[in-house]
Amino acid sequence: MKKPAGFYKDLKLPLYMQAPMADVTDAAFRKLIAKYGKPDVLFTEFVTCDGLCSAGRKNLLKHLIYDETERPIVAQIWGGRLEKYQETAELIGELGFDGIDINMGCPVKNVTKIGGGAALIKDPERAKKIIEETKKGAGNLPVTVKTRIGYNRIIVKEWMEHLLETEPAAITLHMRTAKEMSKVEAHWEEIHLAVEMTKKSNTLIFGNGDITDLGHADEIIKETNLDGVMLGRAIFGNPWLYDRNRKYEDILLDERLTVMVEHAELYESIFTGINSKSFLLMRKHILAYISGFKGAKELRLRLQSVESASEVKEIVSSFKSSVEFQEI
Ligand SMILES: Cc1cc2nc3c(=O)[nH]c(=O)nc-3n(C[C@H](O)[C@H](O)[C@H](O)COP(=O)(O)O)c2cc1C
Repeated sequence: MKKPAGFYKDLKLPLYMQAPMADVTDAAFRKLIAKYGKPDVLFTEFVTCDGLCSAGRKNLLKHLIYDETERPIVAQIWGGRLEKYQETAELIGELGFDGIDINMGCPVKNVTKIGGGAALIKDPERAKKIIEETKKGAGNLPVTVKTRIGYNRIIVKEWMEHLLETEPAAITLHMRTAKEMSKVEAHWEEIHLAVEMTKKSNTLIFGNGDITDLGHADEIIKETNLDGVMLGRAIFGNPWLYDRNRKYEDILLDERLTVMVEHAELYESIFTGINSKSFLLMRKHILAYISGFKGAKELRLRLQSVESASEVKEIVSSFKSSVEFQEI
């Protein structure tokens, strides 16, 4: 039996977790998710160590806002400069997070070109140093890694061997290579080796990629014996994703629209002043809530250029009092 580190030891395995998604699972959306169907663990969007350890810190702290209802909440970090990981880990501790996750999976050029994210798969010695540096600053907080199964090709065995040398509290494998981005189906057949390799360690092993809902997650866990899974894009427009008692089909449109307005209001109230973010990012969410019903197309058109929560509210109340809505 594994002995999980930090807060993981207080949780019942297997874990159902929300994967971090930059500009999607921000403080507003996570607060809503925690209210309507809380996953076992939540992660912040990734935030750069280099930026956090510079004069620009104040502009990045909006990515590290969280609410007590989200606990356990893990901060995800990435960076190009090895020497900034320890200081960042200390800051994460001071901010009261429950854990630190290092991003070693992001394939985006701006991240990999400075040696961050998935670039670390090609430089395992540096990856191991980064984990050690982060641990130095993390105190008692568990340090975990979220990565992919290779860069250009699948190298589960050698990559896992390297990572396991540093004994991270958990490794999450997104079951695609960096080169594949999200364009092909996740290679779930590769997970068995990773599960086997962590069996004799205390490192938890989590899988990620293309999981559509909790039922699908259950099937994957049953087939693989994973310690947990992360669901990413399935959360779009569905903060009820982790509620076992309600299926998405059971959420009436009336409630869906009410929660969408609540989401927009939360977004506006959290991301204000120094923490302000463009309402454009909120529009992506709005469009995700509006699908699969008669009149959705027209309503999407009316909402596609909204600039504020009050506009969203107004359009939704006018839709709710319309004949189309009464007929749904
Ligand atoms: C818009 C978007 C933003 C993402 N941002 C992050 C991130 O900040 N950190 C991270 O580790 N992964 C990030 N990912 C990857 C997801 O966490 C996840 O690994 C990927 O979407 C595959 O899971 P899924 O098929 O369940 O969506 C992002 C993915 C998307 C679509």
